[in-house]
Amino acid sequence: MNIPGPEPRPDGGVGAIARAGGLHAYQLWLHAEYGPVARFQLPGADTAVSIADPVLLEAAVGLDERPERLFSFLDPLFEAGNLQVLPADEHEPWRRLLLGVLAGRPAHERHFARFTALATELADRWAALPAGRPVELQRELTALSLRMICAFALGGEVEDPDGVVEAFETVLAGQLERLYRPPGAVAPAEGAERTARALAVLRRTVDRAVAAHRGGGPGGDRSDLIGALVEAGEHPARIRDTVLTVLLAAHHTTGVAVSWTLHLLAGHPGAAGRVTAELDRVLGDRDVPDHADLHRLPYLEMVLKESLRRYPPGPYGARRTAAPLTVGPYRLPAGAVVFLPIRAVHLNPAYWPEPERFRPERFGPEESAGRHRLAWIPFGMGPRACEGARLATLEALLLLAVLLKRLRFRPVPGHPVVPVERFVLWAAEDIRMLVGPRAERGPDRS
Ligand code: HEM
Repeated sequence: MNIPGPEPRPDGGVGAIARAGGLHAYQLWLHAEYGPVARFQLPGADTAVSIADPVLLEAAVGLDERPERLFSFLDPLFEAGNLQVLPADEHEPWRRLLLGVLAGRPAHERHFARFTALATELADRWAALPAGRPVELQRELTALSLRMICAFALGGEVEDPDGVVEAFETVLAGQLERLYRPPGAVAPAEGAERTARALAVLRRTVDRAVAAHRGGGPGGDRSDLIGALVEAGEHPARIRDTVLTVLLAAHHTTGVAVSWTLHLLAGHPGAAGRVTAELDRVLGDRDVPDHADLHRLPYLEMVLKESLRRYPPGPYGARRTAAPLTVGPYRLPAGAVVFLPIRAVHLNPAYWPEPERFRPERFGPEESAGRHRLAWIPFGMGPRACEGARLATLEALLLLAVLLKRLRFRPVPGHPVVPVERFVLWAAEDIRMLVGPRAERGPDRS
């Protein structure tokens, strides 16, 4: 049976995707128009198919390759081969190593005090802001997430955290320019030089952390990630690549996840009130949770899950078929690009009634029972799913708990919040909020 989809266009499909506002928005339109399995034109893919139904996605859950051409814009980041498209036999031990470090409770507990201190510093700074001065949530929270993941992945303190944040911003800007450069356009020379300089700064930072590890720094300050990579006998270039990948994969995603959650809560005072009541009940007079408290905040966790459903920081993933694949009534050839349209899956009305409504109760035990496991996939699925999911959840819950226990957030009136693709699902003009101490209730003084 032919897979439904729009008629081919001479521009190879790029115009329609650009007009929609990016692939995540195009996929929403595509599925609304053509149903749960739809084919579309994409430069670099002979066959591109998107699957927005969890039951049908099961057919693709075991796929273990990413399409190389789609991820080639990331090639310059790597010295020892693009880690996004590692062949399965190399990927499997790499994944096991990452999971061993990133998903383990002991490493989470060891870094908890540092994470809490970083979150508290931010809350202190925001609490002291003059009334009426707005904060830019995404910018501040992605910078904070980067400091958290640097503490985790590099061990100890980075010499110049602001320099590292800036270098990441430069690298990201360079990659985005590459990703969205129109076919045939020439790359700006000074941009490439800037990216190369920023990458050199980042690689030196990792090298210093590796040297500190080999030199045997004080136990609490050593990086488990670097330790595991050194112990596994990885080459220095692969160590640098892996650490940079983790830093890159971790900070924008977690930063925007927390930003979108605060945005949604600010628009839903009922849910925000339940969160603060839960925090007051569980934490009492304490400003910050301890590690065990995070398991006693079920409503906050439901709120985070609902926010990851509405605004998944990674709005889609992709795989490549190594052999022909049957998806429902359709047969895909070997070499086809299969999309997991995460945002479209999360807004599929067959699984999420009134999908645009923010309703954390969807994730309560009653409504969750029996829901298909692939209906909620903010961290992807199968053998290439996000290895940082548990760490990201811990960081996000901690940040939300620290911020919401002490502060209240109100949107800046009239400021537009429009989701766009910028590697992650990003608010185009950032998310601006007025922040003040929670105790300061009563008339609006800003
Ligand atoms: C809310 C925060 C985060 C979200 C929503 C997120 C989401 C994702 C998604 C959608 C993918 C692609 C999965 C797929 O293709 O099936 C991914 C991959 C990845 N993520 Fe995350 N991520 C987050 C945080 C993190 C953190 C904190 C880390 C590391 C500490 C991390 C490390 C990675 C890595 C290494 C990959 C590549 C996976 C592979 O190729 O095996 N992520 N993430």
